[in-house]
Amino acid sequence: MAEDRGQFSSKLGFILAAAGSAVGLGNMVAFPVMASKNGGAAFLLVYLVFIVLLCYPVMMSEIAMGRRTQRNPVGAFTEIAGGNSLWRWAGKLAILTPFMIAVFYLVITVWLVVYLGQLVTGHLDYLATDVAFDEVVSSPSLFVYLLLLMALIFVILLGGVKGGIERLARVLMPSLVVMLLALMTFVLTLDNALAGVRYYLIPDFSKLNGSVINSALSHAFFSLSLGMGILITYGSYFSKRDNIASATRLVAVADTGIAFFAGMLIIPAIFVFDPGTNTEDLSTSSVSLIFSFLPKIFVLMQATFGYVGASVFATLFFTLVFFAALTSLVSIIEIPIAYLIDEWGFSRKKAVTFQAAALLLLVTPATMSLGMSESLTAFTNYAGVSKSVFDVISDVFYETILPFGGFLVCMFCAYRWKFSGLSEELAQGDENYRGSFLEKYINFSLGTVIPVILFLVFLNTVALKYFAYNLFGV
Ligand code: PHE
Repeated sequence: MAEDRGQFSSKLGFILAAAGSAVGLGNMVAFPVMASKNGGAAFLLVYLVFIVLLCYPVMMSEIAMGRRTQRNPVGAFTEIAGGNSLWRWAGKLAILTPFMIAVFYLVITVWLVVYLGQLVTGHLDYLATDVAFDEVVSSPSLFVYLLLLMALIFVILLGGVKGGIERLARVLMPSLVVMLLALMTFVLTLDNALAGVRYYLIPDFSKLNGSVINSALSHAFFSLSLGMGILITYGSYFSKRDNIASATRLVAVADTGIAFFAGMLIIPAIFVFDPGTNTEDLSTSSVSLIFSFLPKIFVLMQATFGYVGASVFATLFFTLVFFAALTSLVSIIEIPIAYLIDEWGFSRKKAVTFQAAALLLLVTPATMSLGMSESLTAFTNYAGVSKSVFDVISDVFYETILPFGGFLVCMFCAYRWKFSGLSEELAQGDENYRGSFLEKYINFSLGTVIPVILFLVFLNTVALKYFAYNLFGV
C-alpha cells in the first residue's frame, strides 16, 4: 500500500513539504500584523509558549496517527479506533476543514496572481490607488486567473507526493528563505528601519488580553497547519525509520522563524517608506494589508529607487508571498485527494479531477462574494456584522474550528489510542523517546491541560464571533 500512496524520499523531503504547508499567507502577512498590533515581543512570547507547550505535542500526535495507519484522517481515526465508530466523524471533519480552507485560500491566491500580473506589466501605480483592491476583487476576469492557477495546482498534485509536492517544496522553500532574508537585510539597512524594529520587538504587556490570547492560539494552529488532518496525511507519507520528534521540531522552528523574519521585513519596511506611519492604521485585516496598504508603500520607494526599482521590489515581495501560498494550497488540497484515493478507491488522476470540479463549484460563489454579486456579498449577518460567503467560510474554518480539531486529536490519542500506542509509534525511529522528558510531558498534558485550553478557546471564539459575547470577560 505504501508504494501506491507514495512516500517522501527522506526526512528532509518531509520537513520541506511540511514546512511548505506551514509557511503561507499566515506567516508572510497575518503574523507580522498580529504581532505588531498586539504588543510586539509580548505577543511573540505568548505565541512561542503556545507553540512549544501546546502545539508541538499535538503536531507529533497527528504525525504519529498518520504514520501508524498509513492512511488519510478518516482512515486513521477509524483504524486506530478499531472500526466504524463516532471517531470517524472527527476524521471527516479533518477532510472538510482543509477543503473549505482551500476555498478561501484559493480566492486570495488568485488576487496575488492578478497583482503579480499588474506588477510585471508596470502597473504598480495603479495598485497603489484607493480603488485598485475593490476593482481587482470584483472583476470577472478573476475567473481566467483562477482557472490558470487551478491548472497549475492540479498538475502539481497529479505528480503525487514525491514527484509533485516534495519536488515543489524542494525548490520553493529554499528560494523563499533566501529571498526573504535578502529582502529583509536590504530593508534593515535603510533609514528609519530601526523605528520599525523597535515597534515590532519592544514588548508591551499592557496589550495582552483574553482575545489576544485566543487569536495567538488559533493563529498558531493555522500557521502550523494543525488541527485539520494535514499532518495526519503527511505523517502517512513519513518513513518509519525517521524521528518524528526532531522532524516536527524543525518544521515548527522553520514556520515560526519565517513568521518572525517576515515581521522583520514588513514592519520596518512600512516605517522606512512612510516614517509618519500611524500604527493604528495597520489594518485589522491581514488580507487587506498586503493588497491595499503595501503597494502604497512600494510606490513611496520611487523617490529612492525609481519606478522600475520600486516595481522590482514589489514584484519580488509578491512572488515570495505567492510561493508561500502555493505550497500551502497544494498541501491543503492533498488531504481530500488522499481521502478519495484511500477510502473511495479512486486513482490519483480521478481523485484530482473530482477535487478540481468540487472546488470550482465552491470557489465560484466565494470569488463572486466580494462585490461581484450583491446577494453573495451581503450573504448573511451575525453578531451585528454583515458577512459575505467568503467571510462565513473563513470565520468558520479558519478562525473557529481549528482548536476544536486539535481538541479532538488530543482526546482521541489520550483516551482512545491510549498513551501506550502513541508512545510506541513515537519511539519508532527515535531510540531516545522512551523515558524522555518529552514522553512524560506528552503523557501528562495531552489528555489534561492541552485539551482543556483548546476547548475553552474554541468556546470563547464561538461566543465572541457569532454572538458577540465574551465568556471570560477580558
Ligand atoms: N499554514 C498556512 C499558513 O500559515 C496555511 C494553511 C492552513 C496551510 C491550513 C494548510 C492548511 O498560511
